[in-house]
Amino acid sequence: MRRPLVAGNWKMNKTVEQATLLVANMVPGLQAVKTVDRVICPPFTSLMTLSGMLAGTEIGLGAQNLHWEASGAFTGEVSPEMVKEFCQYVIIGHSERRAYFGETDQSVNLKVKASLAIGLTPIVCVGETLEENETRRTEAVVSRQVKLGFEGISKEDVEKTIVAYEPVWAIGTGRAASAEMANDIIGNSVRKNLASLFGSDQAEKIRILYGGSVKGENAAEFFAKSDIDGGLIGGASLKAEDFIKIVEAAA
Ligand code: PGA
Repeated sequence: MRRPLVAGNWKMNKTVEQATLLVANMVPGLQAVKTVDRVICPPFTSLMTLSGMLAGTEIGLGAQNLHWEASGAFTGEVSPEMVKEFCQYVIIGHSERRAYFGETDQSVNLKVKASLAIGLTPIVCVGETLEENETRRTEAVVSRQVKLGFEGISKEDVEKTIVAYEPVWAIGTGRAASAEMANDIIGNSVRKNLASLFGSDQAEKIRILYGGSVKGENAAEFFAKSDIDGGLIGGASLKAEDFIKIVEAAA
């Protein structure tokens, strides 16, 4: 049995002051749901403050990105060690980073390796664009992203990773994939590709999330599916009540 995990991706939202308030409002409700791994991924600027607030709770903290190099002349970047000071998790290869910041399957792969090497749990994002979906390339795209993103990862390490299937056309649009379609892609593309790379025993251990317009109202439908082990939540993770409702749906 895979333990469900729900992560909130705050994206570029909330100052430290706003983040502090939001987390204070969330902690009691999140703490009550013991059977789900709960993770908050705020901007870098709030990590230090929130790691202090979350110490002694079971709520995990994640960054939204990192650089793969250990240190050096990389203006504007944050190293794995710097993330590890405050976090247990890190989101890698979100579609917004791929679309707006030039991330590729190769940079995703370097970041996954760097995360694992320092002991961070990477949440590796895959998913097709609207155009790829409409031209029936979903399976090919997702398979390529999984294969290249996980290239050279050891069998022992792969079970420490988390994958998030997020169709780009469903992110922030209010137009979620159907639970059936998401479960089908996750089972028949994502997990199947992981099985061909690492064996089916390993693939069965890896938690795979769905993301894209998950709300309190539709969350339970996704989480009831056999291959969906939780969610990566954007917009709805910015409101305490909504995020708690989604976490409760995963329990
Ligand atoms: P959304 O975003 O829940 O706002 O659609 C999901 C994500 O981008 O991770």
